[in-house]
Amino acid sequence: MTKNEKNIVWHQQNITQEKRAELTAQKPCILWFTGLSGSGKSTIANALEEMLFHNKNFTYLLDGDNIRHGLNSDLGFDEASRVENIRRVGEVAKLFVDSGQIVLTAFISPFASDRELVRSLVKKDEFIEVFIDTPLDVCESRDPKGLYKKARAGEIRDFTGIDSPYESPKNAEIHIENDNLSVEEASEIIIKFLIDNKYIIWRN
Ligand code: ADX
Repeated sequence: MTKNEKNIVWHQQNITQEKRAELTAQKPCILWFTGLSGSGKSTIANALEEMLFHNKNFTYLLDGDNIRHGLNSDLGFDEASRVENIRRVGEVAKLFVDSGQIVLTAFISPFASDRELVRSLVKKDEFIEVFIDTPLDVCESRDPKGLYKKARAGEIRDFTGIDSPYESPKNAEIHIENDNLSVEEASEIIIKFLIDNKYIIWRN
């Protein structure tokens, strides 16, 4: 227990996650995208959210680059900052799950222990790890933001895959080998998982 928690008591709220889920006819969860920079996490998460939106699901997308403009603008890319980045995002994602939504998160989240920490914050079937598995050389050849080039030139330090590690998930619920798939094909794999496991009902 931290100093702050000592005199703070949890307040039970009347509108529960179950009641919200009944209203939205979906099973709230976190779709936790992980993978290298340039692997396609944000692009696939964005396309998937659009498909879910048109299916009348309630969703929200938390994206690494965007969250680092606001909530996490005080954090860098050293190990401690990345750990704190994911801890905060995990807590925010948990709130979204409690609010009844399907929350998509797109963060490199390179450390297995951080991803497991987020997994432990919610119920067993509320955390779906989505490994966007794109080989480093493919990410580097795409280099959509020109960051690999800068990292190779030594202009950026601690760049994931170059001079900072990425620990691949061993048992991700969804493993997408993304070197030869279209964004639509990748999104459809995830949609199928969500239908098969009764997170959503497909209305189209
Ligand atoms: S994480 O490792 O802490 O999960 P996060 O997903 O929030 O990373 O941010 C990664 C994004 O920040 C990358 O897609 C890239 O655009 C940008 N970035 C800037 N510097 C770095 C760096 N040193 N390593 C990785 N990504 C970086």
